[in-house]
Amino acid sequence: MSASSLPTVVVSAPLPADLRERLAARCSIIDVPAGQSPAQTLDAAQREALVGILCTMKTRIQRDELAALPKLKVVSNFAVGFDNIDVPAATEANVLVCNTPGVLDKAVADLTLGLLICLARNMVGGDAFVRSGQWARGAAPLTSDIRGKTLGLLGMGRIGREVARMACALGMEVIYHNRSHDEAAEREGLAQYRERDALFAESDFLSVHIPLSPSTRHGIGKREFSLMKPSAYFINTARGGVVNEAEMIEALKTGVIAGAGLDVMETEPLPGDHPLCSLSNVVLQAHVGSATVETRRAMIDLAAQNLLDAVGGTKPAAMVNPAVWEAGAAKA
Ligand code: DGY
Repeated sequence: MSASSLPTVVVSAPLPADLRERLAARCSIIDVPAGQSPAQTLDAAQREALVGILCTMKTRIQRDELAALPKLKVVSNFAVGFDNIDVPAATEANVLVCNTPGVLDKAVADLTLGLLICLARNMVGGDAFVRSGQWARGAAPLTSDIRGKTLGLLGMGRIGREVARMACALGMEVIYHNRSHDEAAEREGLAQYRERDALFAESDFLSVHIPLSPSTRHGIGKREFSLMKPSAYFINTARGGVVNEAEMIEALKTGVIAGAGLDVMETEPLPGDHPLCSLSNVVLQAHVGSATVETRRAMIDLAAQNLLDAVGGTKPAAMVNPAVWEAGAAKA
């Protein structure tokens, strides 16, 4: 096939050289900087030809974007979350949405447990204690065991289950709330189900593992924080938008909860003068749950393969709206 007869795809994600070569053998690639709108960046002929987009969460694919790309078949997100894409609009437009589930569970679970231990053992405060020379004036304050404490998981998908496994191995009691009971996890003795309010009330550490969607946006706020113990910590490695951030900051400032470990915020990147940055009972990370060399490589491999499969007419491994694929297969 000549380069011009290859299907046109936009790449808006960091692509290792070997993967780029693999993609270039089967597609004509147009690079669009991450976060930039493909519809607004491409010229009319490119928009008309475009069949696939490989992008990160920074690229917003909404209804108007989809309407401007008449031949688009697939948006392959280099992330497990897909709140940057209007999935119902994509489904209406017969555009398949793909993501990267499974390959990042362990890395995100590692970071979740890292934040939990950091909070329980005051590791950030301990680092400052040593660096500032306070150690010479006496021992550091005592901290708390995590063993025997209760970890509440809001959301029991792949990542929640991985966190549950690790927390059980560390001797924690794990409880969870989810739309449906996870009978396998209960049978394995990983976690026990609780109603939502009971989860907030009983947890010593409450960790969030739900996706961001119109129905979960700002679902955690003043009411939920007031249910929590004043000694409890809140951990979020999912999406900042699931929390009412102003109400969380108020709860952290007024001692309604003891502290928080946050990898995600409503505004990312978080500006250095944001109120969260001045709270000493908060440990912050820069949305790095999946950001290890090995995990990001596995994610981009899967995202690129999803794109190639969808463009080439093979069923991709990870589809968010498989109805689009099934409808296409039924027609063929
Ligand atoms: C995801 O995959 O959704 C992560 O949040 C991106 O790091």
